[in-house]
This record gives sequence, structure tokens and C-alpha cells, in this order.
Amino acid sequence: MSTNQPQDIVKLALDSHDNIAISFSGAEDVVLIDIACNLAEDVRVFSLDTGRLHPETYQYIEKVRDYYGIEIELLSPNSQDLNQFVKQKGLYSFYADGHQECCAVRKIAPLRQHLADLDAWITGQRKDQSPTRSDVPQQQKDTAFSTTAHTVTKYNPLANWSAAQVWQYIRENDVPYNKLHDQGYNSIGCEPCTRAISPHQHERAGRWWWEESTKKECGLHMINVVET
Ligand code: ADX
Ligand code: SF4
Repeated sequence: MSTNQPQDIVKLALDSHDNIAISFSGAEDVVLIDIACNLAEDVRVFSLDTGRLHPETYQYIEKVRDYYGIEIELLSPNSQDLNQFVKQKGLYSFYADGHQECCAVRKIAPLRQHLADLDAWITGQRKDQSPTRSDVPQQQKDTAFSTTAHTVTKYNPLANWSAAQVWQYIRENDVPYNKLHDQGYNSIGCEPCTRAISPHQHERAGRWWWEESTKKECGLHMINVVET
């Protein structure tokens, strides 16, 4: 399985599950959408709309929607939980006591709710992105979001590709990309937790830059750090 190309894994995923969706961050993981749209017509895509994405990312999500003629579900946080959190902790608590709490409300809870209705999801994780991702397989049981009654399978088709291979694909296939990539942004997440990097820095150095690299998982991919 480890030598399979991303196209093979996306095909396997789409063939294996009717109830499956791509989790699109609004960055270079657009490659997954491009591959899937070449294989199927009814590709399901969702993005976690934390409310804190860059304007460029919102514009880009819209561009991808138009370019591929697909629907993109934008998942919002639960408003009561968000109101309570912001009332107590304000808008920038992550700089003081870590990103987990904010990510839990803005990303993890909406994702958990969404995955409860899906059998599988497809993500753009790659091994070369982070020390926490060095063992990411192309296919796995998602133990973080499965329950005793419901198994969720997670596909990571780009796991074995380097950033260079992803960008080669984007260029060769004229795939639209987020404008922030031309402004020194490499890995793109929420606006307050992402900054541009210089060419010699590691891809994820601009994400949660005030935290240690071994802890830079927001919980979407927590099985990478709690499972061995
Ligand atoms: S993160 O967990 O650190 O934010 P990263 O930005 O590296 O993740 O993206 C890895 C993969 O997680 C993406 O390719 C995508 O599948 C998923 N992902 C990350 N952020 C989002 C988001 N806001 N909405 C949907 N999927 C996301
Ligand atoms: Fe909040 Fe930052 Fe996590 Fe976005 S990445 S949900 S702003 S802590």
C-alpha cells in the first residue's frame, strides 16, 4: 500500500465508501479535489470554517467551488459553545495558554459531528509536514473519531508525497491555489495562528509558532500524537 500513488488511494477510497468526503483546508490539499473530480462527479467536500480564516482563504474556497463546479460544505462551530468560550477567554487566548481549547470549539467539535454521519474522510496530511506525521499511513482506522457503533476510516492519499511533488502536480495541472502561497505562506491555517515564513524555514514553522513542533496538532489529527 505504501507505494501507491495518491490517485490510487483516492480511487480506493471513493470505490470503498459511498458516504465519504474530502476535508479541504483551503491550501495545497486542493490536489485531492482535483484528483477526485477526475475520478467521480459527485465529490463531497467540507471545510471547517473556524471564523478565523484569512480573507484570501475564503476567496479561494469560493474559487475552488466555481472552478470544479462542486458544493463545499462549510462547517461552523456550535454558536452557544463559541459564544461561551469567547465570553470567557476572549479572541486570542491561544497565545497565552495554547491552541487546544480554541481548536476544540472551532474545529474538533464540528468535525466530530460531521464524521458521525460519514463512514470515511480524505485528508491532505503528508509525512514530510511535521514530526507528528512521520508515520502517517495512506489508510487507517480513525480511532479518534470512531465509536464502538461506528467506524470511521481515514485516507491520507498524499502521505508519501513531498511538498515538491504536490506543487509539481499543481503547476503541471494548472490547479488554482491560495494566493497566500505567493506571499510566503506555506502551510495555511487560521489567520491568527499562521504566519509567513522565510525559504529556509520548515513548512510548518509558521503555524502556532509559539508552540513546540512536536505538539503542533490541533486535534483533527490527534491520533498522530496519541497513537503509536
Ligand atoms: S492542521 O490540523 O495542522 O490544521 P493542516 O493544515 O496541516 O492541519 O492540514 C492537514 C489536513 O487536515 C488538510 O489537508 C485537511 O484535510 C485537514 N484540514 C486542516 N484544516 C482544515 C479545515 N479548516 N477544514 C477542513 N479540513 C482541514
Ligand atoms: Fe483557534 Fe488558532 Fe485553532 Fe484556529 S488554529 S481554531 S484560531 S487556536
